[in-house]
Amino acid sequence: MGYADPTSSRDLLGSRTLFFIFICAFALVTLLQQILYGRNYIKRYFEFYEGPLDFNSTKCLELRQDIMDVKVLSMVKESELFERWKSLQICKWQLNTTEANSFKSALSRCCNAPTFLVTTQKNTPLGTKLRYEVDTSGIFQINSEIFKIFPKEMPYYRSQFKKCAVIGNGGILKNSRCGKEIDNADFVFRCNLPPISEKYIDDVGKKTDVVTINPSIITDRFNKLEKWRRPFFEVLQEYENASLLLPAFYNTRNTDVSIRVKYVLDDFESQQAVYYFHPLYLINVSRFWLTQGVRAKRVSSGLILVTAALELCEEVHLYGFWGFPMNPSGIFITHHYYDNVKPRPGFHAMPSEIFNFIHMHSKGILRVHTGSCS
Ligand SMILES: *[C@@H]1O[C@H](CO)[C@@H](O)[C@H](O)[C@H]1NC(C)=O
Ligand SMILES: *[C@@H]1O[C@H](CO)[C@@H](O)[C@H](O)[C@H]1NC(C)=O
Ligand SMILES: *[C@@H]1O[C@H](CO)[C@@H](O)[C@H](O)[C@H]1NC(C)=O
Ligand SMILES: *[C@@H]1O[C@H](CO)[C@@H](O)[C@H](O)[C@H]1NC(C)=O
Repeated sequence: MGYADPTSSRDLLGSRTLFFIFICAFALVTLLQQILYGRNYIKRYFEFYEGPLDFNSTKCLELRQDIMDVKVLSMVKESELFERWKSLQICKWQLNTTEANSFKSALSRCCNAPTFLVTTQKNTPLGTKLRYEVDTSGIFQINSEIFKIFPKEMPYYRSQFKKCAVIGNGGILKNSRCGKEIDNADFVFRCNLPPISEKYIDDVGKKTDVVTINPSIITDRFNKLEKWRRPFFEVLQEYENASLLLPAFYNTRNTDVSIRVKYVLDDFESQQAVYYFHPLYLINVSRFWLTQGVRAKRVSSGLILVTAALELCEEVHLYGFWGFPMNPSGIFITHHYYDNVKPRPGFHAMPSEIFNFIHMHSKGILRVHTGSCS
C-alpha cells in the first residue's frame, strides 16, 4: 500500500495526547500541593496569633522547661535565650497562684513593702536617726519639718490592686501598641519621669499611679529646683493623679533636692502626693536580689517597682523591660522608647534582671510582655 497506515498516525496522535494529559496532571498535582501547603502555612499563622497553645499543654510545659533549664545567664549564648523566649510566645500565660504566693511571702519576709516601702510617720517616728542606703556613715535625723511631710501611714496595703502594670522604659516598647492594654491595668507604675506625651501614647499609654523620679534628673534638667520651678511643675502636670516616689535617703546628695519637690508642689497647690523610699526597704530589696544572682552597684528603679508591685498587686505585668540591644527576633532596638542614650556601664545589671523576669514568667509568677499588643 502506498499510503500511510491510518492507525499508525492515530497511534501517534494518541501518545501525544497521553503526553499532554500527563503534563497537565503533573502541573495540577504541583499546583494542588502548593495550595495545600499554602493553606497549612496560613493555618499555622492563625494558630500562632489566634489560638495560642494552652498553658498546660505538653508543648508549653516543654518550652517552659527549656527556659528553666538555663540556670545562669552565662550558660547559653544570648541568641539561644532569645530563641527559647521566642518559642515560648506561642503559649498562653497563666498565673500560678502557688508559685506567686510563695514568692510573695519570701518578699514579705525580706522586704515588706506594705510596711516599709516609703517613710511614714509610723515607721519613721520623729527623732529617728535614719541611716542612708549607700552613705552608711551618713545619718539623717528626722526633725519636725521633715516628719510633717511624711504620710501618717503607708498609702498602700498588701494585694490592694488586682492587675498592675510596671513600665520599664526599654526601646522594646516602641511600636508595641500596648498603650490601651497598659491603661486598662488597675494600677500603673512608671520609672524616672518618662515622656507620656501624645507621640508615645499608643505604645506606652498614659495612666500613671506612681512615678519614680531620680534626683539626678532634677539636678540635670531642673537646676536642682534652685531657680525657676514652673518647668518642673509643668512636666509633672502630664502625670495628673500620679504619686511621686523619690529615693531621698539613698545618699546625702539626694536629700535636699528630693524634699524640695514637696515644697514646689505645695507652692503650686498641687494635689499630687510625694513619697520617699524607706532606705531600709531599698537595702533589703538589693539584698534579696543579690541572693537571686543580680549583682549590680544598684538595682534599677524598675526592679524596685516590680518587687513592690509583687506585694501590692495580685497580678503583675511587665512592659518595656528588655535589657538587650536586640528584640527577641534579633532586630536592633533603641535603649529607651524615647531616646538611645546608654546608661553608665556597670551600674545596673540589666541582663541579669531580665533573666530573672523571664524565669518568673515561666513559673507563672508575673508576666513579661515583649511582643506587640492586640
Ligand atoms: C492547668 O492545670 C492546673 C492543675 O495542674 C489547673 O489548676 C489549671 O486550671 C489548668 N489550666 C488550664 C488552663 O487548664
Ligand atoms: C504551679 O506550680 C507548682 C509548683 O511548681 C506546680 O506543681 C503546679 O502544677 C503549677 N500549677 C499550674 C496551674 O501550673
Ligand atoms: C530589712 O533588713 C534589716 C536589717 O537587716 C532588718 O532589721 C529588717 O527587719 C528588714 N526588713 C524587713 C521588712 O524584714
Ligand atoms: C485623675 O483622677 C480623676 C478623678 O479621680 C479622673 O477623672 C481622671 O480620669 C484621672 N486621670 C487619669 C489620667 O487617670
